[in-house]
Amino acid sequence: MSELSQRPENSVVGETIPHESAALHVTGRALYTDDLTPRTKGVLHAWPVQSPHAHARVTAMHTDAAYDVPGVVRVLTAADLPGVNDSGVKHDEPLFPSEVMHHGQAVCWVLGESLEAARRGAAQVEVDYEPLPALLTIHDAIDAESFQGARPTAQRGDVEGALARAAHVFEGETEMAGQEHFYLETQASLAEVDDAGHVFVQSSTQHPSETQEVVAHVLGVASHQVTVQCLRMGGGFGGKEVQANGYAAVAALGASLTARPVRVRLNRTQDFTMTGKRHGFHASWRVGFDDDGHVVALDTTLTSDGGWSLDLSEAVLARAICHVDNAYWIPDVRIHGRIAKTHKTSQTAFRGFGGPQGMLVLEDILGRCAPLLGIDPLGLRRRNFYAEGQETPYGQPVRHADRASTAWDQVLTTAEVARRSQEIAVFNAAHEHTKRALAVTPVKFGISFNFTALNQAGALVHVYKDGSVLINHGGTEMGQGLHTKMLQVAATSLGVPLSKVRLAPTRTDKVPNTSATAASSGADLNGAAIKNACEQILTRLVEVDAGRNLAWEEVVHEAYFARVPLFAAGYYRTEGLSWDAAVFRGTPFKYFAYGVAAAEVEVDGFTGAYRTRRVDIVHDVGDSLSPLVDLGQIEGGFVQGVGWLTLEDLRWDTTEGDHRGRLTTQAASTYKLPSFSEMPEDFRVAMLEQAHEDGAVYGSKAVGEPPLMLAFSVREALRQACAAFGRPGVSVELPSPATPEAVYWALETARRTVSTREPAGA
Ligand code: MTE
Ligand code: HPA
Ligand code: MOS
Repeated sequence: MSELSQRPENSVVGETIPHESAALHVTGRALYTDDLTPRTKGVLHAWPVQSPHAHARVTAMHTDAAYDVPGVVRVLTAADLPGVNDSGVKHDEPLFPSEVMHHGQAVCWVLGESLEAARRGAAQVEVDYEPLPALLTIHDAIDAESFQGARPTAQRGDVEGALARAAHVFEGETEMAGQEHFYLETQASLAEVDDAGHVFVQSSTQHPSETQEVVAHVLGVASHQVTVQCLRMGGGFGGKEVQANGYAAVAALGASLTARPVRVRLNRTQDFTMTGKRHGFHASWRVGFDDDGHVVALDTTLTSDGGWSLDLSEAVLARAICHVDNAYWIPDVRIHGRIAKTHKTSQTAFRGFGGPQGMLVLEDILGRCAPLLGIDPLGLRRRNFYAEGQETPYGQPVRHADRASTAWDQVLTTAEVARRSQEIAVFNAAHEHTKRALAVTPVKFGISFNFTALNQAGALVHVYKDGSVLINHGGTEMGQGLHTKMLQVAATSLGVPLSKVRLAPTRTDKVPNTSATAASSGADLNGAAIKNACEQILTRLVEVDAGRNLAWEEVVHEAYFARVPLFAAGYYRTEGLSWDAAVFRGTPFKYFAYGVAAAEVEVDGFTGAYRTRRVDIVHDVGDSLSPLVDLGQIEGGFVQGVGWLTLEDLRWDTTEGDHRGRLTTQAASTYKLPSFSEMPEDFRVAMLEQAHEDGAVYGSKAVGEPPLMLAFSVREALRQACAAFGRPGVSVELPSPATPEAVYWALETARRTVSTREPAGA
């Protein structure tokens, strides 16, 4: 066993403890970025002037009238920029655009003594636009050949030959919508500049180091002149991985021009209309099966809807391509990907980061082809699982493949899938207008950033003379419980009780050059860095102790007087990763996280309304660092996935006319999120036992994103329930999201279909 994963007896990691801020969360005392505004003197408030066009040239801007509004202090425009007019990670996002690229894009910002003054000032800014044609759907973009970024292909073997030889070949298209992050705390930043010109930005950002870089770039100063701090976020879900940067830059620019603190905090409508979402995807595919239902070949082209700029779209596409296989072995395969450029918000990271979109393609294929092959979906999925050591389409050997089958078997047993499937058949035979179905789906998700360089982290650990410990690390807290885990890791590595350890807010002047807290790797990377720092200190203390077994306080006290340093910087980088982007091959992931879910739904044949009657999950978190936190991540991830697949329905106005390109779902009233009524009525979550992950911090596994994809079980159960309204063998095409309306039309189609079973080789 590696030293990193070895866990001492009675360790604090693995203890079931609440989130470190749970009490503050539930009493409303936890401070978020914008809670600092009333605690800061003389803050100016910012309001954006938003484009009423999806695509237009800005021909003139008249700001004079804004200054006539009482309380307006300053209008920020491109002319004010000391640095570079760009806030994009790919340098394609002017902060103040001369060509607007989506409806709602900010063209300039107004600062006021109050939010109301800023808002009224913004209303007085006159902007002249020359409207240009706008592409709003993936199909518009494909037709116009409007793409951006790299167009990679992962391939192995001879796809054409294998398809030609396959006993059964099917082809089709799969389309899926995006998703709004709907973090409870919208984008927020508060910036101040001190007498020496040092810029301090508090930001709700998953990536303080990058926010610091973008602020420095826009202000034309060096990074050491900018400090970014993130206390905590009220949710990020990927939506603050890069998209916090621009708002921090606006606040910093305002602060540096006015010498006053400046606050940017989007309201919900602004956040909806200005920030990126999960990428919608389109896939066209051809798949071949042998007579036993083994997938023998897959050829697919994925097109993501990137929106107006690149943002993280290339990395998201890479992860999508690397997850089409999910838990299934595909001998001959070609997966091609491209990014559509459309006149919409720039779509961005969202929990799963393209993985869910890639996996949906093959899950959709299996769900649609099972009836065509005359094989039950359960059996079809199971027989295609990876065997140990088989390689993914991008060449990484699959390790611990047995965990997928172990979790599968456990779910089948504990959820009594066989017995309940029979009961469901009896129920369905007796109910013409209500149908039930039970589906089981697996998850295999690669852990590490696809981009190898990002897999590093730093930490700073101080032991004070009284034996109390203060830790700092580069990760950010967004509700996922990272800080809780980091406290547990520090207490475990130093061998002190949890009460001895405190954690200080994440800031760039404590730990530099950090990666985003993303790719579910926050605990793996920062935990290992903290452990490394603690071990450096511990090694020194062991020498001071010299076998005397002194109490912690005593040895710390002696160490100080012996002039032994009581603080250390820790560092970690994930070993063994490789990636060749040119040929799309390598070992991008340290390991895979596995999970299996069984979901039972009931669908009403008159309306398409449905209930989730029961969900059983077995999920692999390795040896859990913090079981309660992990449970919350599994439940929350699953429910967020169910929202994406069955409820949340982003609509843009695509009609020609004045509102073309406007997002019509701008609030919780028109954008349906999961609520208590959509929870599974019976929800049973178990963690896979004996799942120690060698080589990861204290044997644990990343948990933040993988459970989201357990929600495929609900989508597949809905598909099967729709099929139950038709004759046996009917193949159901289910849109994503499978809203009640979509489910209704799917079951109505199933009712009317005589048979979709195709002859072999069709
Ligand atoms: N859980 C909560 N409560 N809030 C969040 O914003 N973000 C998710 C996941 N779980 C998120 C969450 C995403 S997108 C990621 S990548 C991981 O948490 C990031 O944190 P980790 O690396 O510490 O798991
Ligand atoms: N996940 C999240 N963020 C990222 C990734 C990833 O795999 N790669 C680059 N940024
Ligand atoms: Mo998560 S989408 O990697 O922030």
